Amino acid sequence: MNRRLGNEITVQWQAPVTELVAGLIRHPKTISSKFLYDETGSRLFEDITRLPEYYQTRTETEILRSSVDTLRLFFDRPTTLVELGSGSSTKTKILLDEMNAIKAYVPIDISTDFLMETVRKLSQDYPHIDMAGVSADYTKSFEIPKLDTERTVVFFPGSTIGNFEPAAAVDFLCHIRTHLSNGDLLIIGVDRKKERLIIEAAYNDSSGVTSAFNKNLLTRINREYGCRIDETTFEHVSFYNDKAGRIEMHLQSMIDQTVELAGEIITFEEGETIHTENSYKFDMNDIETMSVKSGLQLKRVISDELNYFSVCIMEVVHQ
Ligand code: AVJ
Repeated sequence: MNRRLGNEITVQWQAPVTELVAGLIRHPKTISSKFLYDETGSRLFEDITRLPEYYQTRTETEILRSSVDTLRLFFDRPTTLVELGSGSSTKTKILLDEMNAIKAYVPIDISTDFLMETVRKLSQDYPHIDMAGVSADYTKSFEIPKLDTERTVVFFPGSTIGNFEPAAAVDFLCHIRTHLSNGDLLIIGVDRKKERLIIEAAYNDSSGVTSAFNKNLLTRINREYGCRIDETTFEHVSFYNDKAGRIEMHLQSMIDQTVELAGEIITFEEGETIHTENSYKFDMNDIETMSVKSGLQLKRVISDELNYFSVCIMEVVHQ
């Protein structure tokens, strides 16, 4: 490696209040799901991944573990692994452990604190791998540090791609593609369409962690913008929207109320919701359509036996 990156963190993002206000003065009210991930939110999401009802994480992890031989076919030259929304990087460890071709690791995450933890821990466990964390909203723009390897593999696990509207997912993948070269790869985890009850249980867990995760959004707003929203007047609501093929998460006001944010008065009627997240689910056709529209060549779709989750490998082939 010619250049060491010194495991530094570059902050490229902060929660903009104008974006929040704009979403709350509209009807229906929305807040982008990326605001869910402050430090507490990221930790609560980690708790979600361990819930019995939340099949996604353990299924994807199992898929990765049981397909390392297949994955090695795609890690056949010195590689920079770029991970989008790295969280605690549990799944990444499987790749870092098993794919010797990985020479550099660039995690990009919106939660700076969490990212610092991750890079600090991982750089101890993998001293031979060059690491550079980027704290950024990767849905906007970000820089991938240029590293001295022969291939970039963008790892986007967890079905976070499902947080985008379908057209925006395509735009996003096209944008990523412009950062990449011929022969570079994307490894994307997607949650599959399945029986409604199974999906809904994953977002309405019996221990209330998902509810806490959703409501933490209000706590975050209170803390960061000096608001006084009473979290106990809001309820966690989550359901599968069959027509759109997505899980929706909302915060529903149980009373008529007004709150103040950045000098703006925001009115809630009893029963009115803030739409806080969409999580699209995919069938095989959705996966193919997404890759074709993004100009990516779908090389492999690896799934568990029940087809609950899939890991898709796509290749950049510029004209
Ligand atoms: C990390 C965005 C994929 O949509 O399943 C989990 C977030 N929200 N429970 C998902 C989430 C509620 C998660 N993603």
